[in-house]
Amino acid sequence: MREDIERILFTEAEMKQRVDELGAELTRDFGDKNPMFLGVLKGCFVFMADLIRRFDAPCTMDFMAVSSYGSGTSSTGAVKITKDLSQDIHGRHVIIVEDILDTGITLSYLKKYLQNRAPASITICTMFDKPERREVNIQADYCGFSIPNAFVVGYGLDYDEKYRNFPDLGILKEEVYR
Ligand code: IMP
Repeated sequence: MREDIERILFTEAEMKQRVDELGAELTRDFGDKNPMFLGVLKGCFVFMADLIRRFDAPCTMDFMAVSSYGSGTSSTGAVKITKDLSQDIHGRHVIIVEDILDTGITLSYLKKYLQNRAPASITICTMFDKPERREVNIQADYCGFSIPNAFVVGYGLDYDEKYRNFPDLGILKEEVYR
């Protein structure tokens, strides 16, 4: 895998340290609210597993799966829910856990979808953010790292379902997807 990576942006150790900080912030802000962590599959699974173990208070969790990307490196713009909530979120403090905020199309769709189910609040926590790529007006409430406009893999993020198990976050060589 490593030979397909142009440059490492963050090592496993750097990401662990940042997730520790995010977990502490969320514990401070939601520790008495029994929040529901809602992971957006599949990309969230590594971040979610790390983050919830740094949340030092009662909480529950659920997962949704959405697809907007197909197998390429740019969004198709169409969002489809392929796995829905399995719990009622009415009156709950929902913390959406996302791997990366790119155009924002996925999260703005999801936020509207969840708002219709009358949660007490909706908070967005993303590990990575590519602000330059935003097409719709949406921001994360908690963000691990802002990154440049490049296609990245590892720490749960894939290209064509590969590299999710790469432990660092790296920029994928263009020749891999050209
Ligand atoms: P958005 O709807 O454009 O914000 O796209 C969000 C989704 O696109 C993320 O949850 C990822 O699954 C995928 N994505 C966006 N940028 C990247 C990237 O650089 N690497 C891997 N997946 C990405």
